[in-house]
Amino acid sequence: MPNKEPISSSGTILSGMRPTGQLHLGNYFGALQNWVDLQDSYKCIYTIVDIHALTTIETPEDIANIRPNIYEMALDWLAAGIDPNLSTIFIQSHIPEVMTLNTLLSMVTPLGWLMRVPTFKEKVRQMEHTEESVNYGLVGYPILQTADIILYKADTVPVGQDQLPHLELAREIVRRFNSRFGETFPEPQAKLTKVPLIVGLDGQQKMSKSLDNHIDLASTEEVTTKRILTAFTDPQRTTRDTPGRPNVCNVYSLHNIFTNESDLTTINQECTSANRGCVDCKRQLAQNLNSYLGPMRERRNDLSKRPDDIKDILSEGAKTARQLAQATIEEVYDKMGLS
Ligand code: TRP
Ligand code: SF4
Repeated sequence: MPNKEPISSSGTILSGMRPTGQLHLGNYFGALQNWVDLQDSYKCIYTIVDIHALTTIETPEDIANIRPNIYEMALDWLAAGIDPNLSTIFIQSHIPEVMTLNTLLSMVTPLGWLMRVPTFKEKVRQMEHTEESVNYGLVGYPILQTADIILYKADTVPVGQDQLPHLELAREIVRRFNSRFGETFPEPQAKLTKVPLIVGLDGQQKMSKSLDNHIDLASTEEVTTKRILTAFTDPQRTTRDTPGRPNVCNVYSLHNIFTNESDLTTINQECTSANRGCVDCKRQLAQNLNSYLGPMRERRNDLSKRPDDIKDILSEGAKTARQLAQATIEEVYDKMGLS
């Protein structure tokens, strides 16, 4: 057998997550698992975007949560397999150059571009603000995101569908910058992540923390089981004797990820012939999920006993990132006629 060729790629990946604290299954299958895989074929840079988190903080509690949320998320990243020997991981605000670049990029970004971004309109609505009363930082969110990417001259950005407008805007900003000041940045390409849709325990909406329909990666086995037992199933299956429809059942869609083929076939048959109760079905899912997450949870436990190591990893990452950032800012100053 010939040796497996290492997949070589000159590309640099950059992606970021807002520090939301402990991650859930939706975050894992929607992004993190893919980030881990990409480490084999790209130079990867992953950042915890705490400045972006500030665009929506409103209460003292929000502020108090940022630091612990960063720490909890970093633990989940590392436990899931983000490897500091392969990737650069750091906290956005540790690289002040990103704010310099943000300001400079804002000189080539029309306000109209920013206000047309669908996520902006959505956030304004969610926050019960108007476009006039919302803070300036929120309008500029995509500029800061562009700065995140191009400060390190990354060319590939793994994101979900919802982030495509931001990436398109980043490309437009780069095109404008390059045409006005000379070829400086690569146009970043979105790399769409193919992911199964992880529906929340309510069976209605995408899994999300704010809807409280999520399962945290780091939960205990007991909590995981308890939460799965609350999950909605086929709404038409009102009694044990009513046959169920696995294809509309949220529990079954999770079985699809965590349960082996032959058990899946059995579940399907037993459900559609009313020979299986939903509670047993959920217990089986909980067991499979717990064994899937077991190794990750063990790593997380070990890491959580060494908080200083987490700090070191993040500050080493910042050191590496900062060197790249400083070189870029020097070049940008020069191109823009600053000295
Ligand atoms: N806006 C992204 C999100 O909400 C987070 C983010 C910030 C990001 N900077 C980034 C993603 C740079 C990719 C690249 O999910
Ligand atoms: Fe869903 Fe399982 Fe109940 Fe069928 S038996 S409806 S697959 S939870």
